[in-house]
Amino acid sequence: MSPIFRIVSPNFQGMGIGLLYGQSPASLRNGRPLGYPVQREMSELETNLAGLEKILLGGPKIAVLTGAGISAESGIPTFRGEDGLWKKHRAEELATPQAFYHAPALVWEWYDWRRGIIASKEPNAGHRALVRWERYFPHFVLITQNVDGLHRRAGSQNVLELHGNIWEVRCTREGTITENYESPLNPIPPLCPACGAMLRPNVVWFGESLPAETLEEAYAASASCDLMFVIGTSAFVQPAASLPLLAAERGVPIVEVNPQPTPLTASADFVFRGRAGDVLPLIDERLPAGSTGG
Ligand SMILES: NC(=O)c1ccc[n+]([C@@H]2O[C@H](COP(=O)([O-])OP(=O)(O)OC[C@H]3O[C@@H](n4cnc5c(N)ncnc54)[C@H](O)[C@@H]3O)[C@@H](O)[C@H]2O)c1
Ligand SMILES: [Zn+2]
Repeated sequence: MSPIFRIVSPNFQGMGIGLLYGQSPASLRNGRPLGYPVQREMSELETNLAGLEKILLGGPKIAVLTGAGISAESGIPTFRGEDGLWKKHRAEELATPQAFYHAPALVWEWYDWRRGIIASKEPNAGHRALVRWERYFPHFVLITQNVDGLHRRAGSQNVLELHGNIWEVRCTREGTITENYESPLNPIPPLCPACGAMLRPNVVWFGESLPAETLEEAYAASASCDLMFVIGTSAFVQPAASLPLLAAERGVPIVEVNPQPTPLTASADFVFRGRAGDVLPLIDERLPAGSTGG
């Protein structure tokens, strides 16, 4: 790793760039002393953007890992945020094979509620920036932990959905996977039209294996990229959280976009302490105009 890429030292972690983006007073208070000199924050942002621009203009092979945070600005709750509870249940309790085995209707009600929220929301500026990057960079792989389908809805063509998709259902008897956009679902739990067995969401629950081929492609992209973005993930869920480490171990610059520090922050070379919908368009502006395909 050339020291030139180590622009944000660990000492700078926790400092925000939010003042530039007009964030709400609540988010400005997050982990930062009030009254921090704005000028200094601006120059750090500028340094970060300029350093990143240099790399981007060299046409690097890019891998991007996204998590629930990129969809937060679309109004979709994250698991670890303030909205992480549903009817007093923690997401980590409901998103398990055990919960589904013991209380399939409860788990389906939760998915039905989440599907209803997602259906009423739209992709945001963060998703849209990634669509443009896919068109702009010949080597670009988007890996997501999200199940909401918003990357595809925004227009991203190749998305590695590590944890499945909430708009797909799988027969618990036959394993058949089909798309299903019914919202609200009726009945709950939904039944397989072919054999009458219960359907389950085609998502990966805690304790389950990830789709092997998708994970393989995600590993390959992380092991061969020249630049890796980690956007809106708490980096607690494995094996997704280990992907950026594959890149970091090779000295590849890591860019973190997250209002909060994460376990990956220490491995990041560029730390943008802001919201994806604010930060990604700022980075996007550094690409040559007119060549990003709109
Ligand atoms: N939208 C979805 O599909 C969705 C929603 C919730 C959870 N999940 C699932 O939950 C698991 C949780 O892991 P995770 O790491 O993806 O999510 P998480 O809920 O654990 O963490 C969300 C992260 O996003 C950050 N964040 C919040 N707002 C942000 C913003 N505007 N811009 C950038 N970052 C922001 C938070 O600081 C946090 O670090 C994953 O398996 C994922 O599949 C998916
Ligand atoms: Zn069936």
